[in-house]
Amino acid sequence: MRLPDLTAFGPGFRWGAATAAYQIEGAVAEDGRSPSIWDTFCAVPGAVDGGDTGEHACDHYHRWREDVGLMRELGLGAYRFSVAWPRVVPGGTGAVNRAGLDFYDRLVDALCEAGIRPNVTLYHWDLPQVLQDRGGWPVRETAQAFADYAAVVAARLGDRVTDWATINEPLCTAWIGHLEGLMAPGLTDLTAAVRAAFHLHLAHGLAAQAVRAASPGPVRLGITNNLSTCEPATSGEADKAAAQRADGHINRWWLDPVLGRGYPGDMLEVYGVDLPERPGDLATIAQPLDWLGVNYYFPQIVADDPGAVPYFRQVPGPGPRTGMDWEVHAAGLEELLLRLAHEYGVRELVVTESGAAYRDVVSPDGAVHDPERAAYVTEHVAATARAAAAGAPVTGFYVWSLLDNFEWAYGYDKRFGLVHVDYATQRRTIKDSGYLYADLIGEHRRLTHRPTSSG
Ligand code: IFM
Repeated sequence: MRLPDLTAFGPGFRWGAATAAYQIEGAVAEDGRSPSIWDTFCAVPGAVDGGDTGEHACDHYHRWREDVGLMRELGLGAYRFSVAWPRVVPGGTGAVNRAGLDFYDRLVDALCEAGIRPNVTLYHWDLPQVLQDRGGWPVRETAQAFADYAAVVAARLGDRVTDWATINEPLCTAWIGHLEGLMAPGLTDLTAAVRAAFHLHLAHGLAAQAVRAASPGPVRLGITNNLSTCEPATSGEADKAAAQRADGHINRWWLDPVLGRGYPGDMLEVYGVDLPERPGDLATIAQPLDWLGVNYYFPQIVADDPGAVPYFRQVPGPGPRTGMDWEVHAAGLEELLLRLAHEYGVRELVVTESGAAYRDVVSPDGAVHDPERAAYVTEHVAATARAAAAGAPVTGFYVWSLLDNFEWAYGYDKRFGLVHVDYATQRRTIKDSGYLYADLIGEHRRLTHRPTSSG
């Protein structure tokens, strides 16, 4: 496969892969971890395909050494993972569980030893169930509890971890978890969803302050949002207005407040729910960011749909589709990065997730041939490089995901990994796309470490 032009990426560009605690760790009842809302959600009949749960997942809690070895083999310069709040503060607030923190401490040590830079996400959807029982994200106290937990993690790991993300894809927690009911905690309540969204933002702002105050070392802090381009399905006025709403619901609601623009007025009207805002909250939410994480998977082509908030529906686009039935459209990533640079003036961007699920199998030759994923990764790296060449300040790219893992309500059927996992044996096999990614990393290294004429 022809490698894309990578000359727009500077020598410090970070090549990584990403995971999340509940999707890979397993060991849900070990060393003092308490149940999270995802343990509860998985136990609801019919909530997760195949009745799958994160109970064992990739058993990364025990196999982390092997997994760091795989990262090394791939030549990764960075690894993005999340810390499980229920391992570190099992009661949600209060007592710290040393054994839980120790796990991440060992992992960070191993990464540093391997020359792989950790990028730590503090919340990737596994709220301690005890906090859900006290009201979860729709209540204000959860935001402060998150900041307190974030300070504990930063105090322990901050001597070796510089790159922190507060919350991953708050959209999913608020809209999918509280409005659509398809993720934990499985609610379908607009008021709860808007309140959850606000408290996730407040939690981000409070945690940003807490991490900066508690870390013994330098902090580079960001947040990771799943964003999309939003196009109308037709040139009709109703569909154009639907695309504007989709942009508000998916992009602007999540970008504007953290970037100091407040909540978009058009969306406040669409939702018609009062924010639980107190004086000073908007300033807390708009903490300075060192970088903004972009998770991009597919474009949104939308039509008006008067059915229910937010009054639009997705219409299938013309491109090929992944195993998630998501359209492949790499140019959307380029467009998004340029919009963030030019319209929002973001000074540093990181592609914190990009990847695709396909039906991968281990072939009789022992390899995993996944040409579609290899093409997907190449095209999205190329789109990022084009955006960088056009002035977007992109400093890193993380493939989702390092390993096949628990794909939330879709269970284990959807495989996103650069590394195949046989869940029966926990055997790992680097896929062809993993080797392709290693080639891209090697090519960039070759470009940026050219020997000088003097030797
Ligand atoms: O698996 C998820 C991840 O947890 C968050 N971003 C999207 C991925 C693929 O759906």
